[in-house]
Amino acid sequence: MVSDPVFHPWSAQAKVAQETVAGGAGAWFWNQAGERWLDLHSQLGNLNLGHQHPAVVAAIREQAGRLCTLAPSFRAEVRDEAARLILEVAPAGSRSVLFTTGGAEAVEHALRMARVATGRPKILAAHRSYHGATEGAMGVTGDPRRWPLPTTGAGTVRFSGPYRYRSDFHASTDAEERDRALDHLRRLVAYEGPASIAAVIVEPVVGSNGVLVPPDGYLAGVRALCDEHGILLIADEVMTGFGRCGAWFASDLWQVRPDLTTFAKGVNSGYVPVGGVVVGERVADHFAERPYPGGLTYSGHPLACASIVASIGVLRDEGLIERAARLGATVVRPLLDDLAARLPVVGEVRGTGLAWAIELVADRATREPLVPYDAPGRPHPRMVEILRACRARGVWPFVAANRVHLFPPLVIDEDDLRAGVAEVGAALTG
Ligand SMILES: Cc1ncc(COP(=O)(O)O)c(C=O)c1O
Repeated sequence: MVSDPVFHPWSAQAKVAQETVAGGAGAWFWNQAGERWLDLHSQLGNLNLGHQHPAVVAAIREQAGRLCTLAPSFRAEVRDEAARLILEVAPAGSRSVLFTTGGAEAVEHALRMARVATGRPKILAAHRSYHGATEGAMGVTGDPRRWPLPTTGAGTVRFSGPYRYRSDFHASTDAEERDRALDHLRRLVAYEGPASIAAVIVEPVVGSNGVLVPPDGYLAGVRALCDEHGILLIADEVMTGFGRCGAWFASDLWQVRPDLTTFAKGVNSGYVPVGGVVVGERVADHFAERPYPGGLTYSGHPLACASIVASIGVLRDEGLIERAARLGATVVRPLLDDLAARLPVVGEVRGTGLAWAIELVADRATREPLVPYDAPGRPHPRMVEILRACRARGVWPFVAANRVHLFPPLVIDEDDLRAGVAEVGAALTG
């Protein structure tokens, strides 16, 4: 008998064993018994501002006292302001923002916008990607989470993106990986028929599939290929947006301007469910005189918009984007490089800003993964052991496949960050 009243995502219901969390502040959270953990994964990459940032909590309270909800058909100052601030930091050429209630819905609408605006059916999407768990978003997802849903993905054609450590192109340098990955994409476009392709969707830095930072020039190459054929570029920045990678958007790292950018998580640290699509010129022009076929009751929810306005203010005022870039380069990278040099179980470490992955191997020479690339479900028992060892040491990272992911809040104290990475290293040492 399952007595838990909550039906848990991604889980066999009888096998869920979760920690009951009582509270959090900054980069820490704790249970009823007073055990506390350093949050090294920001609650699924959400908490760029950490737990309970007072400015955001106050903004939500203040808005709740004024107006809790408003249909999207009305205008509200707080909604205009949230969109205006997002556009200020979004890639150049962005025109407007469609608000959703999370990342998957943002992807759904980006796909729909692309298909309707171009009149073309196909979407090119990467293996080793995650775009959300609704039907269309799962249809473009490229990781094993889609395996139990064999009928999703009509109109999706999958390609391999760059990943030099496990290159699909037998490349041994970044330049080779970039050129061969672009060549592969170019061929795929030709085989599929460019005029049938609405969009290419990418995570500019692949998030939950391993923090895959593409070689310089790759994203610009994808942009150029899209331009050649009138194909739209969708950047899924749900995980990477609003400072996570040390820039407002990961696309900024290579000065690439997508046609559509999806966001969620970091835009308000997940304090109120929200996501959205930043709409570029081409799509905005298409829907200037034609109605957009889609909407949501909660689009531009006032509590969410108030939290966005406050969050962008904090990201700016506290210099958190620059801080993420600095901490990544000067603290995390050297500490992880040191782990890689010392621990044979570490195959590769990679990341940017405050998004990092430690890839674990059974054999460094062959690069055999510590656990197999496998069907979704609970993590492999060996990875559960590693996670347990981390928790026992007071740190809470994320494990996915054969990797440990570190996505700490951008506000994390520098000494805590150093100590936290050291504890993860100690957990891996066994
Ligand atoms: C890149 C990316 N896109 C989309 C999503 C889906 O977002 P949500 O869980 O808010 O629906 C995620 C979630 O982790 C993500 O990482």
